[in-house]
Amino acid sequence: MKRCSLTFKQRLRRSILAVLVASSPLAGVATAQASELAQQGQDIAQRLCASCHALGRAERSPMPTAPAFRRMEPRVDLDQMAERLQDGIIAGHPEMPTFVMKEHEARALVAYMRSLQDN
Ligand code: HEC
Repeated sequence: MKRCSLTFKQRLRRSILAVLVASSPLAGVATAQASELAQQGQDIAQRLCASCHALGRAERSPMPTAPAFRRMEPRVDLDQMAERLQDGIIAGHPEMPTFVMKEHEARALVAYMRSLQDN
């Protein structure tokens, strides 16, 4: 495979590897895992949530009544969010579809949301 055809994810993994090598073992592992998880969460959010919710740090929600992900706290308890996503009880309101996620997907999505919170 040519070097320039690396996907974003592959490049991300390489830079994570670089971080791992450069920093102290335990701290490096924790940080790299957290950021990779958040990256996966961003992919999921892009696919399933971005049609209504603002994702990044400054965007406005395409659906004005849907809160921007960076403003979920304190409105939503992110500690419980992963479980809620797996149970599919994020419903609550007619405009929003119910999602039932696998544990890993739910944790990734929450890691991404957490990385965005303003406060
Ligand atoms: C079709 C549009 C739509 C999509 C797609 C959507 N949402 Fe929502 N979501 C909404 C709206 C509208 C609200 C606000 C409803 C309200 O406040 O009554 C909302 C509210 C929420 C809330 C706050 C709930 C609460 O208890 O206050 C969370 C968390 C949330 N959405 C997460 C997500 C996640 C995660 C995804 C993707 C997996 C997603 N949403 C996809 C429309 C959507």
